[in-house]
Formats: sequence, structure tokens, C-alpha cells
Amino acid sequence: MLSKTAKIPLVSSHHEVYEPCDDSFALVDALLADRTNLLLHHPSICMEIGCGSGYVITSLAVMLGDEEFVPYYIATDINPHAIKVTRETMDAHGVYAELVNTDITSGLEKRLAGSIDVLVVNPPYVPTPEDEVGCEGITSAWAGGENGRSVIDKILPTADNLLSERGWLYMVTLTANNPSEICLEMRKKGYASRIILQRSTEEESLHIIKFWRDSDSQLELNNLNYWTKMIEEEVHQLDVISVQAASSCW
Ligand SMILES: C[S@@+](CC[C@H](N)C(=O)[O-])C[C@H]1O[C@@H](n2cnc3c(N)ncnc32)[C@H](O)[C@@H]1O
Repeated sequence: MLSKTAKIPLVSSHHEVYEPCDDSFALVDALLADRTNLLLHHPSICMEIGCGSGYVITSLAVMLGDEEFVPYYIATDINPHAIKVTRETMDAHGVYAELVNTDITSGLEKRLAGSIDVLVVNPPYVPTPEDEVGCEGITSAWAGGENGRSVIDKILPTADNLLSERGWLYMVTLTANNPSEICLEMRKKGYASRIILQRSTEEESLHIIKFWRDSDSQLELNNLNYWTKMIEEEVHQLDVISVQAASSCW
């Protein structure tokens, strides 16, 4: 009998599909730790971008599965083999998602804009040469380009477009991705953020960040921008005055 809180066993695989690893486990552990909030949140639509073997979306569907109100699940992956493996994983655990073989969420944006309540992403985040990003097969699972940010930086505006007013984004990042800069980028779009799980393995230091819309963050940033602009203008005026003073001394 499958526990509603346990991680799911892997039932299907393919040599070109990413097998659940420390990052996948960290993301599912973070979701499990936030399960009570997720249940209270009553998400209507949950989505995963880059589902790989289906381990994360299946775990999410299983952990939220007790409720009478079952969310609708959608997952995408650029790798067609991942879609097949995810379907087998989900079937084996008695859960369902609409699975789409596409680049990030291409072709779905119009239909899903402003409607995703929970978005989970374990992106390709490893710093690699830029030409490895989006390669066919297993390379696309980890190749993240410069600072590992190429795919992440495409996902952030997409997430902003897809998330509902009460939408939450859970994303895996690596120290090399500069998580604080990612949080600032999202803050500019009006999101608050919190690192809900941090885990160091032999190879990497992982952060699972949760983002949610927060009008105070936007306000704070507007105020910060306002004061930065005012200070810059004052400094500029002081520069002009001191240049004038210097030239009148000559
Ligand atoms: C690090 S793996 C994570 C897989 C799975 N979610 C997990 O946590 O085990 C990243 C996944 O993103 C997929 N991917 C990479 N670039 C993508 C893109 N542009 N659009 C959609 N999926 C992408 C890869 O094929 C891979 O399955």
C-alpha cells in the first residue's frame, strides 16, 4: 500500500531520461515539508516543467491525493522519452496528468495564463557551454549554459505569466545559479521568496526556493527604486554644484 506521504518507487526508466537524483529528492522533500500548506491551498491546477521520469509530479499527485478535491495536473518535457516514462510512472501509481512534449510551456501559455496554483521545476541548472543547452536526449536534463541560468531565465517570465494570483512556484537552484539574484528578479515581478530547503551533497549545494505573489514586495521595490533614483539625482546635482564651484574658483 502506497503511503500518501512517502516518496514513490521508480517503476520505469529510459537511458535518455533523467533518473531521480539528489535534486529530485530535495524537491519532493520540500514539497512534503510544505504538504499541510499545499492541502490548505486547495490548488486547482498543478504543473511541472521538465518532468523527466515523472518522479516529482507523481509524488505531488500522491501526496495531495487524499482530498475529495483533486487538482488537475499538467507536466511538460522537451524530451519525448520523458513523456513516455512519466506516463508509465503515473499509471503505476494510479494518478493522472496531461503530459505535453514541448519546450518549457510553448503552445500552452495562452490557455493556461494566470491559472496555475502550484508550479514545480527542477530545471537543467548545471553551468555548461551554451551550445549544450537544449541538446537532444539526456544532455538537456542538466545543461544550463552560463551560470546554469539559460533555461531558468526563460522559465521565470513564463512562471509569472502562468501563475494564478495565489500561485506558488517551487524551484530547485544551485549556488552557482546565484539564487539571491533569481529572488531579486522575481521580486521585481512582485514575488516574495523563501529558501524552504537547503541541502549540500558531495557535488553541489542545492536550494529549493518557494515564490508567491506579494504586493508588499512590489511596493518595497518601488520604494527602493524611488529612493535610489532620488539619491542618484541628488548626487548628480551635488556633482554639478561642485563642478560650478570649482570653475568659479578658476
Ligand atoms: C534535472 S531534470 C529533472 C527531471 C525531474 N523533474 C526530476 O526532478 O527528477 C530536468 C528535466 O527538464 C527537461 N528539460 C530541459 N530543458 C527543457 C525545456 N526547455 N523544456 C522542457 N523541459 C526541459 C529535461 O529533459 C529533464 O527531464
